Amino acid sequence: MPENADSPKLRARMRAALLRWYDRNRRDLPWRRSRDPYAIWVSETMLQQTQVATVLPYYRRFMGAFPSVEALDRAPLDAVQSIWSGLGYYRRAMNLKHAAGVLASRHGGRLPDDYDALLKLPGIGRYTAGAIMSIAFQRPYPAVDGNVRRVYARLFGLTDAKELDETAGRMVSRPRPGDFNQALMELGATVCSPAAPTCERCPLSHWCRARASGSFELPRGRHVETKAVEWPLVIIESNSRVLLHRRPDDGLLAGLWELPTPATLPPGVARESVAVAPIAVIRHAITDKRITAPVYLLRREARVRGKAWRWVALAALSSYPLSSLYTKALRAAQHRLGARLSSIGAGDT
Ligand code: ADE
Repeated sequence: MPENADSPKLRARMRAALLRWYDRNRRDLPWRRSRDPYAIWVSETMLQQTQVATVLPYYRRFMGAFPSVEALDRAPLDAVQSIWSGLGYYRRAMNLKHAAGVLASRHGGRLPDDYDALLKLPGIGRYTAGAIMSIAFQRPYPAVDGNVRRVYARLFGLTDAKELDETAGRMVSRPRPGDFNQALMELGATVCSPAAPTCERCPLSHWCRARASGSFELPRGRHVETKAVEWPLVIIESNSRVLLHRRPDDGLLAGLWELPTPATLPPGVARESVAVAPIAVIRHAITDKRITAPVYLLRREARVRGKAWRWVALAALSSYPLSSLYTKALRAAQHRLGARLSSIGAGDT
């Protein structure tokens, strides 16, 4: 029978049903084998806006390279960004690195067991703070991401964000608050899907308002308009090296290395020297931008000064922090460059 979350007894029954389901259906994921708050923080940061399957290889590489707050704090930003290359939303990597510095200097290199202190760290919002508190420290804080919001909206017929947050706060409890939160995420990701929920597999279907009414319509989320953008790229090659430019420390793809565009060529390379015909046209999406990028190849030496420009050997490109926009362009040119660029990251973000 559909109900609301007002009754403690009912909440306890729902929790028990969900945890039973989770114990039988949970995916065996590397961060679920750890109680290390640092590992939980890294995984939850990577999982923002990114699916589990995409995150897995990045998580393993990141934890292999930077196994602790101290290791992350000591690592050069370039090395962190390089491992992040291809995962997208690069500000997350900057924030992790920045927060590791704060943790090292003010918290003895540990994540604090304190919700408000976590919220003060760069890149940690209510979701991530709740996930760390519940999963790493076994404290009953909710962690409401898009999947969890959908589950609660359907289960209790909630459309109001404040009401939904209050309900989430009442639903999470000891024991096993971290498993409870992950069970909700898992249910949203694998059973209570946006378009075609498989209610026959759902441990909460018995109580679900959406199921009882037959209407799975959700309140419309924020609709993000995508923009079509033309973003031409120029590969300047000389002696098996490619010229890269470091982007500014703020804005899109902050601090990452990039291929220049015809409008941002290094001093001394005339715009007219870019060939008339592109060697390839690639497509790529970054946040709300649908990018079409004609790729031009220019073979010439150029003198560059300063830290923002660098000639990089083709063989070394894989260790450079590049967005997938650029690795796609370089891959498209690899035959002409006479190089095998299989080592260049093939992420899709
Ligand atoms: N998405 C966000 N956090 C997650 C977690 N801990 N497990 C699986 N998917 C998630």
